[in-house]
Amino acid sequence: MILVAGGTGHLGIELVPLLTARGIPVRILTRDPDRARQRLGETPQFAKGDARSPNTLEGALKGVDTVVSAMTGFGPGAPGPKAVDYEGNLNLIRAAAAADVRRFVLVSIHGVTADHAMELWRMKYRAEEALRASQLDWVIVRPNAYMELWAEIVAGPIFKDGKATVFGRGDNPVNFNSAKDVASFVALALFDPDLSRTILSIGGPENLTLNQLVGQAERAAGRKAAVKHVPLPMMRLMSLVMRPLKPDVAAMIQGGIAFDTVDMTFDAGDLRRRFPQIELTRMADVLARQGAATTTPTSAELSH
Ligand SMILES: NC(=O)c1ccc[n+]([C@@H]2O[C@H](COP(=O)([O-])OP(=O)(O)OC[C@H]3O[C@@H](n4cnc5c(N)ncnc54)[C@H](OP(=O)(O)O)[C@@H]3O)[C@@H](O)[C@H]2O)c1
Repeated sequence: MILVAGGTGHLGIELVPLLTARGIPVRILTRDPDRARQRLGETPQFAKGDARSPNTLEGALKGVDTVVSAMTGFGPGAPGPKAVDYEGNLNLIRAAAAADVRRFVLVSIHGVTADHAMELWRMKYRAEEALRASQLDWVIVRPNAYMELWAEIVAGPIFKDGKATVFGRGDNPVNFNSAKDVASFVALALFDPDLSRTILSIGGPENLTLNQLVGQAERAAGRKAAVKHVPLPMMRLMSLVMRPLKPDVAAMIQGGIAFDTVDMTFDAGDLRRRFPQIELTRMADVLARQGAATTTPTSAELSH
């Protein structure tokens, strides 16, 4: 049995069906099993729990031999990276070791360092350190930015009403990988003996600036967008002002600043050579899927 923490997120909804389709028994650790069931259907098992509360983890781990942690506390309304990405992972690592789990796959993030400017990267680094120091057999997977999430953020409004917001200048190249591809690599990490105690950096086939992403979304939507840039000084000011009031929003603005200023490129050459069986998805394919899902009129709409 595989326990997936974060099974209901962008990555989880790609990973869980991939595993259950292969007949692998999966249990999802979730704070809201009803919502999780709506998202993932009845095939996986659901365990109500919260990684911040160690006493909810013991039951979830009964009969489990492998754990995937794909959870995060980064996002709107979320409790933050320290509470989930570090402390939650620490609780889960300790509980997994106590439950005699065989392998623990931690989904981290590309570019983590102990002193990174972004709290999320620092907290992932601390979780990695805790896992490496444990008695567990481990694999650390470090993906880049998920295409599906950024297609929602940047391209979603273009498909919907022809508008786009770009954080900063939008000319810093960033590597995007599809959550579908990351799920395929995590599935490998679950069983491949060669990956034991290794760090696997994952990236997509191309580095794109946000301006290029807007261009690709415009082509997929078949229309030009009215593009608004949020200037970097304004983002810096907003992040400072929001920090005491809404730390989740301040952290996301900081993420936007990092997107515009930090080297976020990745060369997928080595990954392709090592894993030729996983074909890396291009952003244009994700946008085409998103466009088809957004713009295909329903039969009810057609009849009006
Ligand atoms: N998104 C990206 O661009 C990106 C890039 C690189 C790495 N990553 C990493 O990839 C993983 C998946 O990211 P994602 O974008 O798919 O996440 P997401 O869509 O934001 O979903 C977050 C997930 O974390 C779970 N979660 C949050 N707090 C929890 C807690 N206290 N206890 C248990 N579960 C909790 C949520 O489960 P419930 O709400 O059901 O409880 C949900 O399934 C994360 O580790 C993330 O840091 C993401």
